[in-house]
Amino acid sequence: MAFKNFLVILLFFVSVLNADSPKNIIDTIKDQPSLTTLSYLISQASEEDIAILTNNNNSITLFAPNNDAIQLVEIQFLSQPDTLLQTVNYHLVNGSFSDTSLGELNYLPTFLNSTKWVQLGGKPQYLVVTRDKDNNIDVNYGMKSVNAPSKVIGSGIQTSNGYIYIIDTVLQIPKSLNESLVDSGKYPNFLKYISKIESIINNSTNGVTIFLPDDNSFAATIKDYDDSKITDTLNNLIITSPIYLGNLTDGQKIQTLGSEETISIKDGVYYVGNTKITISDILISNGVVHVTEYVVGADNVAGKNNNSSSNDGDSIMTNLMFSLILVSFTILFTL
Ligand SMILES: *[C@@H]1O[C@H](CO)[C@@H](O)[C@H](O)[C@H]1NC(C)=O
Ligand SMILES: *[C@@H]1O[C@H](CO)[C@@H](O)[C@H](O)[C@H]1NC(C)=O
Ligand SMILES: *[C@@H]1O[C@H](CO)[C@@H](O)[C@H](O)[C@H]1NC(C)=O
Ligand SMILES: *[C@@H]1O[C@H](CO)[C@@H](O)[C@H](O)[C@H]1NC(C)=O
Ligand SMILES: *[C@@H]1O[C@H](CO)[C@@H](O)[C@H](O)[C@H]1NC(C)=O
Ligand SMILES: *[C@@H]1O[C@H](CO)[C@@H](O)[C@H](O)[C@H]1NC(C)=O
Ligand SMILES: *[C@@H]1O[C@H](CO)[C@@H](O)[C@H](O)[C@H]1NC(C)=O
Ligand SMILES: *[C@@H]1O[C@H](CO)[C@@H](O)[C@H](O)[C@H]1NC(C)=O
Ligand SMILES: *[C@@H]1O[C@H](CO)[C@@H](O)[C@H](O)[C@H]1NC(C)=O
Repeated sequence: MAFKNFLVILLFFVSVLNADSPKNIIDTIKDQPSLTTLSYLISQASEEDIAILTNNNNSITLFAPNNDAIQLVEIQFLSQPDTLLQTVNYHLVNGSFSDTSLGELNYLPTFLNSTKWVQLGGKPQYLVVTRDKDNNIDVNYGMKSVNAPSKVIGSGIQTSNGYIYIIDTVLQIPKSLNESLVDSGKYPNFLKYISKIESIINNSTNGVTIFLPDDNSFAATIKDYDDSKITDTLNNLIITSPIYLGNLTDGQKIQTLGSEETISIKDGVYYVGNTKITISDILISNGVVHVTEYVVGADNVAGKNNNSSSNDGDSIMTNLMFSLILVSFTILFTL
């Protein structure tokens, strides 16, 4: 009997504590010393622009850029309001994801669904969130983040309508394949041929997967090819649906426009046929790019890249573009 009373009292206290606990996302932001700039910007935004955030019915996860991240912005670039709004939407994930619900590799659906910015058959754009052995959480969002993912600082903050993760970099909306490659500055040879595949890519309304070869390998492979052989080579690199790394399993067969390839996974390294994926899950506006060491489906070894210097990394151009987005982000809130 005494035990039963004890339980009743315990339950009472638990419910009192719960009633008292988490504030909503907006109020929680106000309490965070590293989010004062974001909090200020939100206070200046129109109700409409932050409707997703303020609707307590939504269950959301906010990746919240800290003061330093927003500080990078230079107030001189006036952009279209739509860019600004969509950039904010890309920081908002549809669903409440606690630290413990995040695995090693997560594809989180955002509120970025405007067809101008994302063409995935009506589905919203993702953030690719990874967690390593030491529990560091990174947020990947396209070519710009290849070597510099946005990093989560601290752990997730629970609120009444979802989670907040503080991040050290403002996220950039993934761009088209062409723009992403131009920004990266690392694929000049492939870019010479991109017009050959552009209409296929544009017509794939559910999105695409591109196996993008190391650019030196690509150049070496197609060196002596005629036009039709180059077209065949390019077709081997395209799948007309988005296939993320998390969609691949060992032994799986995948169909490109030119060939069937077998996926294998050895010691955590993914292979497409004989070629390994060196950079995975680079998001683009209409799908995903995986960089491969050699050319998928190529029947010669000329593409073998003996130069060790080639790897990922970003150009000054990318950084410039990124600053512009940062500016946009601030302006949205200050308008
Ligand atoms: C939240 O949900 C309630 C109950 O379903 C509804 O009455 C209310 O209009 C919703 N509020 C918003 C802002 O959507
Ligand atoms: C959010 O996710 C729910 C399902 O979990 C879905 O019904 C809804 O359409 C999504 N909202 C947006 C704006 O994508
Ligand atoms: C896009 O997101 C908005 C909310 O941000 C939602 O009202 C709308 O239904 C979504 N559209 C699609 C096609 O999911
Ligand atoms: C790719 O982007 C560059 C730079 O914005 C542009 O000059 C070029 O026309 C684009 N190419 C295609 C095929 O869209
Ligand atoms: C493909 O789409 C891009 C971006 O929407 C556009 O700039 C380009 O002209 C299109 N190309 C073709 C061949 O339709
Ligand atoms: C792309 O779609 C257009 C219009 O529907 C069509 O004329 C063109 O042949 C298509 N291109 C490819 C490569 O499928
Ligand atoms: C290796 O690097 C040299 C010098 O930069 C270049 O000429 C050559 O094409 C490269 N070879 C391959 C296979 O990338
Ligand atoms: C691929 O992975 C995404 C993200 O997890 C998921 O939404 C999608 O349904 C998967 N596609 C297939 C064909 O399994
Ligand atoms: C790479 O090196 C191997 C052996 O060292 C050689 O046979 C091959 O031709 C080289 N490939 C290129 C593209 O230089």
